[in-house]
Amino acid sequence: NSMLSWQRTAFHFQPEENWMNDPNGPLYYNGWYHFFYQYNPRAAVWGNIVWGHAVSTDLIHWLHLPLALVPDQWYDINGVWTGSATILPDGRIMMLYTGSTKEHVQVQNLAYPANLSDPLLIDWVKFSGNPVLVPPPGIDFRDFRDPTTAWFTSEGKWRIAIGSKVNRTGISLVYDTEDFKHFQLLDNLLCAVAGTGMWECLDFFPVSKDGKIGLDTSVNGPDVKHVVKTSLDDDRHDYYSLGTYDEKTATWVPDNPKIDVGIGLRYDYGLFYASKSFFDHKKGRRVLWGWIGEADSEYADVQKGWASLQGIPRTVLFDNKTGTNLLQWPVEEIENLRQRSHAFHNLVIHPGSVVPLEVGSSTQLDIFAEFELDKEAVAKAIETNVEFSCQRRGGAAIRGALGPFGLLVLADETLSEHTPVYFYVAKGQNGTLKTFFCTDESRSSEANDVYKPIYGSSVPVLEGEKFSLRILVDHSVVESFAQGGRTCITSRVYPTKAIYGAARLFVFNNAKDTNITASLTIWQMNPAFIRPYHPGGDHD
Ligand code: FRU
Repeated sequence: NSMLSWQRTAFHFQPEENWMNDPNGPLYYNGWYHFFYQYNPRAAVWGNIVWGHAVSTDLIHWLHLPLALVPDQWYDINGVWTGSATILPDGRIMMLYTGSTKEHVQVQNLAYPANLSDPLLIDWVKFSGNPVLVPPPGIDFRDFRDPTTAWFTSEGKWRIAIGSKVNRTGISLVYDTEDFKHFQLLDNLLCAVAGTGMWECLDFFPVSKDGKIGLDTSVNGPDVKHVVKTSLDDDRHDYYSLGTYDEKTATWVPDNPKIDVGIGLRYDYGLFYASKSFFDHKKGRRVLWGWIGEADSEYADVQKGWASLQGIPRTVLFDNKTGTNLLQWPVEEIENLRQRSHAFHNLVIHPGSVVPLEVGSSTQLDIFAEFELDKEAVAKAIETNVEFSCQRRGGAAIRGALGPFGLLVLADETLSEHTPVYFYVAKGQNGTLKTFFCTDESRSSEANDVYKPIYGSSVPVLEGEKFSLRILVDHSVVESFAQGGRTCITSRVYPTKAIYGAARLFVFNNAKDTNITASLTIWQMNPAFIRPYHPGGDHD
C-alpha cells in the first residue's frame, strides 16, 4: 500500500514484508554477523513462526538469506520459537530454540549449522534426538521457553537458563549440560520474583565493573557484575537488574532488592521487547538487539503488508559513574550513515519558545544535543514537584519552573503533528534536582487508529553534567538515549503530515522560569542497504 509506504524505515532492520518479532540467536562468526528473528512468512500478523536469517559485516547493512529453521517436525510444528546461540571453543555453534509441539507443548530443541565452512551458515540441521528438554514436573507445558546462550562453569559444564512461572512468580530454571543433548535440572532457581508472571526471553550476562569493555558470556570473577533480563509477558516490557552470581549454587541476587528483575529498571521505557544480547568477538563488545513492535492497528499492518522493526543494535556497558544502571548506545557503525551535519552552538532558548532548526528534510536523522539550565533560575526556582511523572496528563504541554525542554521531532511546519523528546527537571524541597526523560506521542499523528502514549522515567544526571540527548529518527521510529544511554525510549510514531520533505525539527523550551542553552549537531542519515541475497548474481 503506497499510502503507508513512508512508514518503512531507511536504516532499521526489517524483512521485505510480513510479520517479525523477537531477535534470535545473534552471533558473530567468520567475518559475518548473523541475525535470526521470529518471522511469519505468510502474513503481517503473528503466526506460522519460522526463523528468518540475515547477515551483515557491520550490523547496519544486511543481506536477507533463506529461512534458517521452519516447523517441519512434530516437536516444532506449531512454531520455531525463540532461542540463542552458543559458540563452543572449538568453533562449533549450538543453537537452542523453543519448539511448540503438535500438542502445543513448549520444548527445547537443538540445531546446528550443516556446514561450518560456509561463512553464511545457510543450512541448519535439527538434532535427531530432539527435543532435548521437556517441561519439568510442576511447570505448565505452556510456560517453558526461550533458552539463553550457555555459559561455562568451573566444573567444565555448560549452563543455561529458561524462563517460566509458578503461579504469579516469574522464575528462571537452570540446567547444566556437557553436550547440549543431555541436560540436568539444578535444584536452585537462578532467581525468582513474586508477582511478575511469565518470564520470556531471559538474558544473563556479565558486565565489567570498569565500564569499558564488553565480556563474553562465561567471564566471571571479582571485576564483574551479572545482569539478568526478563521480558514480562504480562506488561510487555524488558526489565533488567544488576547483581551477583554465585556459580556454586547457580543463584543470582540483585544489588538492590527494590530494583529486582521485573520490578525495577527497564532497558527502554517505550516500545522495546524480547531483547537479546550477544558477545561480539570482533570488537570485544556486548551488543543488544530488541524487537520494536507497532503502535498502529492490526488492520493497518495488514494494509501495509508488514509489521515490526528491530532497534539499532546497542552496545551495553556497566555505568561505573552511577553504579546503578547500564549504558546503552547505538553501535558506532551507525555513524557511517551520517551525511552532512548542521551544528548549532549555545542557542539561548527563552521560556515558552519553539525554534525551528533548518536542517532540511527531517525523516532520517541522527541528533546529538546538550542543554544547560540558567544557574540563577535553578537557584531561585521554588518547586516541590518531585512527584512528577512523564505519564501525567498533558505531557510536554504542562509547564514547570525548569522544564520541559528538548526537541520536537517528526513535526510538520504548523506543529499540528509533533513528537516532543524532552527533559523535565523537578526540584525537591531540600533543593535537590531530579530529572525525568520523556517522549510525548499524544500529538504525534492526526491518525486516530494509533496508540499515542507518553513514555519515560527518571534519569540520573550527576554533578557537573549537562543534560545530553541522542535521537535516531527514521520515518516511523524514534530511538532516544539520555545521559549517554542511562535511560532510553523507543517510540513508533505515525504522522500523516510530517512525512518525507515535510518533516521538520524544532528545539523547544516550555519551562516557565529558565532560559535553556542548547548546542546541537544534526546529521542527515543515508539509508542502509538491506536487501535479498541472490546467489550467483542478480538476474532479474
Ligand atoms: C516473546 C515470545 C517468546 C516466544 C516467541 C514466539 O515475544 O512470545 O516467548 O518464544 O515470542 O514467537
